[in-house]
Amino acid sequence: MTETRDRVTVSSPANIAFLKYWGTREPRQVLPYHTSISMTLEECRSFTTAHALPAEALPNGDQIYLAGDDGALTLAEDDFRARARAHLDVVRETTGRTERFRVATRNSFPSAAGMASSASGFSALAIAATRALGLELGTDQLSVLARRSGSGSAARSVVGGFVEWPAEPGEPSAPARQLADASWQLADVVAVLETGPKEVSSREGHRRAPSSPCFERRLELVPERLATIRRAIETRDLDLLGPVLEAEAIDLHAIAMTSEPPIFYWSPGSVEVLGSVRTLRLDGVPAWSTMDAGANVHVLCPREVEGTVARRLEEIPAVVRVIRDHVGEGPRVEDGLDLLA
Ligand code: DP6
Repeated sequence: MTETRDRVTVSSPANIAFLKYWGTREPRQVLPYHTSISMTLEECRSFTTAHALPAEALPNGDQIYLAGDDGALTLAEDDFRARARAHLDVVRETTGRTERFRVATRNSFPSAAGMASSASGFSALAIAATRALGLELGTDQLSVLARRSGSGSAARSVVGGFVEWPAEPGEPSAPARQLADASWQLADVVAVLETGPKEVSSREGHRRAPSSPCFERRLELVPERLATIRRAIETRDLDLLGPVLEAEAIDLHAIAMTSEPPIFYWSPGSVEVLGSVRTLRLDGVPAWSTMDAGANVHVLCPREVEGTVARRLEEIPAVVRVIRDHVGEGPRVEDGLDLLA
């Protein structure tokens, strides 16, 4: 990435967590209780153009637009605009700069697909805004900056392949780092079950998590799970990874459901999809499920069988859409694309 103009377009991917970040130890700095691990995706991306201007050119503050597929720009809704502006404040605070921004953004995946877009969106914004200031921050700085958006998982989206966001007791705010590159060709086939925004945000879920009686127990299990996932990635062993993936997803939702007050992200369709993935395995297809904080089910499998998995998921009436994605290389500058034009 070598772009240094005051107007830059960047795309940054979503990621799917293998070991989940769930529970925030310190909300302002967005510090987790433990290390998390994810796979960076390729197709599910946010595209963001940032244009840096002297503060006096934008007396009403940063302008945040959503770009439609036809290129039309609409002003972002209040909540979205407030989160984006707060993140740009962090960019200004961190860099010591005063410029304001015009920003336009869109996702490659349908915004009504119920896919988490904050990791891709905020990592894209952090990279585009700093580049528009003429700064070329390293991955470590970008990871910390993306995390400070409040979407902790954005810390992992700035890195390609298989990624660890470390949080050891002595160093709870380390940047994400690559565990392995994208050459282990895993697919993520997503069964989309709900298309609306979730009723309870991840931010609120993180806040409630320690109130669950299951929370402490999972913390005890994390070190062994981390070791297993690292080994599985290193040796490309999906049979080793799969059971931990499924246990992690179930524990995340057990914690959510037993938090005070409880949060139910699952839908009946989620249970159906989880069952059909178990049936796929009985049929000899190596496929394992995971879920983030929502009803959708992500099915991890080798790319050679992603078509078989997708067809099986498409047969389930509760599944409204199937998205086929796979491990990816991380963010990139999109030369020739200008969403503000
Ligand atoms: C369940 O606070 O990063 O996906 O702001 O919604 O992206 P969003 O959530 P964030 O929490 C992510 C929680 C998770 C698990 C994970 O990605 O590690």
